Amino acid sequence: MNNETQSKMEKIVSLCKRRGFIFPGSEIYGGLAGTFDYGPLGVTLKKNIQNTWWKHFVTDRDDMYGIDADILMNPRAWEASGHVSGFSDPLVECPKCHRRFRADHVEKKDGVQHCPEDNTVLSEPRQFNMMFKTNIGATEDPNSISYLRPETAGGMFVNFKNVVDSIHPKMPFGLAQIGKAFRNEIAPRDFVFRLREMEQMEIEYFCHESKWEETFEELRKEFKKWMLSIGLNEKFIHEVEIGDGDRAHYSKRTIDFEFDFPIGQKELAGLAYRTDFDLKQHSEFSKVDLSYFDEETKERYIPHCIEPSIGVERTILAVLTSAYKEEVVGDETRTVLSFSPSIAPIQVAVLPLSKKDELSGPAKDITKRLSKIARVQYDETQSIGKRYRRQDEIGTPYCVTVDFDTLDDLAVTVRDRDTMNQDRIKIDELEAYISKKLGL
Ligand code: GAP
Repeated sequence: MNNETQSKMEKIVSLCKRRGFIFPGSEIYGGLAGTFDYGPLGVTLKKNIQNTWWKHFVTDRDDMYGIDADILMNPRAWEASGHVSGFSDPLVECPKCHRRFRADHVEKKDGVQHCPEDNTVLSEPRQFNMMFKTNIGATEDPNSISYLRPETAGGMFVNFKNVVDSIHPKMPFGLAQIGKAFRNEIAPRDFVFRLREMEQMEIEYFCHESKWEETFEELRKEFKKWMLSIGLNEKFIHEVEIGDGDRAHYSKRTIDFEFDFPIGQKELAGLAYRTDFDLKQHSEFSKVDLSYFDEETKERYIPHCIEPSIGVERTILAVLTSAYKEEVVGDETRTVLSFSPSIAPIQVAVLPLSKKDELSGPAKDITKRLSKIARVQYDETQSIGKRYRRQDEIGTPYCVTVDFDTLDDLAVTVRDRDTMNQDRIKIDELEAYISKKLGL
């Protein structure tokens, strides 16, 4: 990591804490590695991102069905999926300081791996299962073991038959889910990039085997379209074909969407052709037939599956990386988060020039009216310049200023975050103007 990229990451982390987006988990107790908590702006940003994903892939389509499965599942499900035997990372340990590292994160010198802390030769790699184990009920024995799900996908495969029997969807169709997933990462790091507790937005799209290639291509395009719709910088997105041997055990083809994060080009999302692996495995382990009968073709078969999968936190980091800008204006530097209006936590700030009732009264009325169509914040503290800078830093696309002229001309000034241009708009026309600007 060079100084420039390191400082961009540090600036993003600092802004997120300072402005109430994201805080280190359990901070007052010294934190807990791999966990982060959302503040008021962060949770709104997260929900806005999730809502655009849900709208794009579920509400706006007639071939997708949402589900919300539990985090705890019968442990047999994770035996069937291959996670109990194979969801592991190679772990190496320093015999001197006992620190543990992911073997693929430590470089070799002359074919040997040394401890990054004290240079001692590290142990041979051993496989470390990343699923968090827990016990169900009052007894702690091998029969009570369950796991916190490592991916949301499992809940969709085990509910395939329930959805088919209750909704009778026609093939091809997809199941979609947003939810928590947990991984006991050996080395959580890089802010919200590698976490132990995260959220995933996943689709399991089922089709006849003969249709997998065209389905893969359609979902690849839609995935990219959605990424651009939330303001990800297209130049930072790279589609990388994953070679044989590097793919997950269930995949016959995978494209990773890698992104130029401040820490380098890394995986943002994956698109995998999971074949009929999961439904076949769950059929075998549960002894429940998970085949599909196509009424039109009169064919019974186990559907094949294409899976677009993305982590919410990596999406947030990609959004922040795309949006973060510093600009020199006069003799100061302004920091701007140029969020797309669809995901900005606050879309409009209403700022009376003075706290006096003659201005705060109309400004509060405007806030009330605009709140019916947008996410609005009323702010009367500090100088107008400081308030503009604060709104720029939290990514508010428009500021509406109520000044003393408003009392005469019944108009307000609307400032555009990105261009800093100001328009004088009649209060009566403000709702229509803002709706148009926000693309509502
Ligand atoms: N169901 C497929 C699956 O879980 P994955 O590549 O292991 O595939 C999918 O994870 C996505 O989840 C990744 O592309 C990434 O966005 C996110 N993700 C995975 N592990 C993560 C972690 N430890 N912290 C944050 N996000 C993670």
